[in-house]
Amino acid sequence: MNPVKHVAIIMDGNGRWGLKYKNSRNAGHKEGLNTVEKIIKETIKNKIKFLTLFAFSTENWKRPKKEINYLFNLLENFLENRISDLNKQNIKLKIIGLKNFSTNFNRLLSKSEKKTSKNSKLQINLAINYGSKYEIINAFKNLQKKKETINEKSFEKYLLTKNIPDPDILIRTGGTTRLSNFLLWQLAYTEIFFERKLWPEFNNNDYSRIIKKFKKIKRNFGSI
Ligand code: IPE
Ligand code: IPE
Ligand code: MG
Repeated sequence: MNPVKHVAIIMDGNGRWGLKYKNSRNAGHKEGLNTVEKIIKETIKNKIKFLTLFAFSTENWKRPKKEINYLFNLLENFLENRISDLNKQNIKLKIIGLKNFSTNFNRLLSKSEKKTSKNSKLQINLAINYGSKYEIINAFKNLQKKKETINEKSFEKYLLTKNIPDPDILIRTGGTTRLSNFLLWQLAYTEIFFERKLWPEFNNNDYSRIIKKFKKIKRNFGSI
C-alpha cells in the first residue's frame, strides 16, 4: 500500500457549475468553497500531511475584472473568517505564488501564514497567483545570482515548494486533461487523476475512491 503524504488539486469547473445551476460563474466560485471545506476535513481524516490547492494562476489575470475581484473577495473573506478555526485545528497555511497584491491583501496573507506557522497536523499550500514557469525561471535566477552549482537539490531550494515533498496524487476536476502551468517540476512522478465532475460537485466519496485507487498503484520510479 502506498502511503499518501501529499495531495495536490486543480479545483476546476466552478464557472461552468455556476452558469449551469445559478446562471452566474461567480456563484460557482462560492459553491466551490464548500467543497474546499469538505476536502480539508477528509484530508485530515486520512492523516494526509500536505494538501495543495490551486486557487488562482498567473494566467487567470486574463479573466474579466468582475470575476477576478469576486474571487479575491471570496479568498479574503475565507481567510478572515476561517483562519482562527484552521489554527485551532492545528493546520498550517502556506501561500505559494507571487505575493504582489494590494498592501492589505499581502498583509492578510502574511498574517495568516504567521499565525499558523507552528502547526503540524496538516499543511495547506494555497496556490494564489501561482505559475510553474515563473517559479522555475525564478529559481534559476536565484541560483545564478548566488553562483551556486546547478543540480536538483540546489534548484529545489529556490522553488516555492521548498521543504514540501512532491505530490503523491494530483486531482484535476472539471473534465479537462491538462496541467495549466501547475507544479510542472514537482509532478514528475505524481499519479494523476482527471475527474469529469466539476469542483462544486466533487465529494468525499470521489476523494476516497481516488485515495483507495492510488494506494494500490505500483509506483516504479523508473525501476521495475
Ligand atoms: C476554477 O474554476 C477556479 C479558478 C480558476 C479560480 P474555473 O473558473 O476555471 O471554472 P470553469 O473551468 O470555467 O468551469
Ligand atoms: C486552472 O484552471 C487554474 C485553477 C484551477 C486555479 P483554469 O480554468 O484557469 O485552466 P485553463 O485555462 O482552462 O487551462
Ligand atoms: Mg477552468
